[in-house]
Amino acid sequence: MKLFSGSANPILSQKVADKLGVPLSKAEIVRFENSEIRIHIEEEVKNEDCYVIQPTANPSDTHLMELFFFCDALRRQEAKKVFAIIPYFGYARQDVQHRPGECVSANVIIRFLESIGFYKVYVINLHDEATEGVFSIPFKNIDAFPILAEEIRKYIGTVTTETVAVVSPDHGGVERARKFGDDLFGHTEHSISVVEKKRDLAHIHKSVALDLYGDVKGRTAILVDDMITSGGTLMHAAQLCLDRGATRVLTAVIHHDFGPKAPEQLQASAIEKIFTTDTIALKEEQKFEKLSEVSVAKLISEVVS
Ligand code: R5P
Repeated sequence: MKLFSGSANPILSQKVADKLGVPLSKAEIVRFENSEIRIHIEEEVKNEDCYVIQPTANPSDTHLMELFFFCDALRRQEAKKVFAIIPYFGYARQDVQHRPGECVSANVIIRFLESIGFYKVYVINLHDEATEGVFSIPFKNIDAFPILAEEIRKYIGTVTTETVAVVSPDHGGVERARKFGDDLFGHTEHSISVVEKKRDLAHIHKSVALDLYGDVKGRTAILVDDMITSGGTLMHAAQLCLDRGATRVLTAVIHHDFGPKAPEQLQASAIEKIFTTDTIALKEEQKFEKLSEVSVAKLISEVVS
């Protein structure tokens, strides 16, 4: 078995390699002055199972092309099977035509992954589980929420349904929040609260929290989401929870796919703590006090070994 890292999150790749007790395999990634990329595999891979770890986060297109070229280069060297480990699957939110005339980008990327010759794709908490049905090659969606639930349990201490309210910041996340509640409480006998979010499809990164269904009064509210970009969804939902009597707001979010202003605004927001993972590399300027990162390396190493 050979484990390769794209350039998107080498720290995570190294952690996975350490967990597996294998070295990262050698490949040269060249970026030309005109932005084109060249991948050169620098190891013997003939008849080997080869894994490529590459979250396709910002800059998504560059990271996607790198991933595609890795697969092509490995197949040309007669690798037995090539597996894509995509901890964060960029474009996953563009999985339907939200308005007539739009592309369905997630579908296009899946077609590319298949036709280039990946044998199997692993992702972590894909935006919508139903997207799995679009893949016609083996696919595995790894759930990292249990490790976030564990972190939050450690942070809060005692977790009961009387003292904690699990909240979905939009209708689309209800099932996700319910499953997180199962992990957090350790049983399924709990209700969740839901924020009614309205997105302005004509303006990117604009949404409002219109209403909150459920009871958060006197409890710690935990907002559960798959990703943060502008931070608007979580910040508006957090304020609504506090307005409705929550004592404090924590968040459990898998992917920090931050827009440029998000770190500063989240640090200044009403949210007490943001628990997240390292599916996406965190740049130095994106670090802030309220952000707490836990690694998904162990989860990845378990599915690979
Ligand atoms: C939406 O369906 C997603 O689950 C997230 O709630 C959303 O994409 C977060 O984006 P932002 O941080 O820009 O509000």
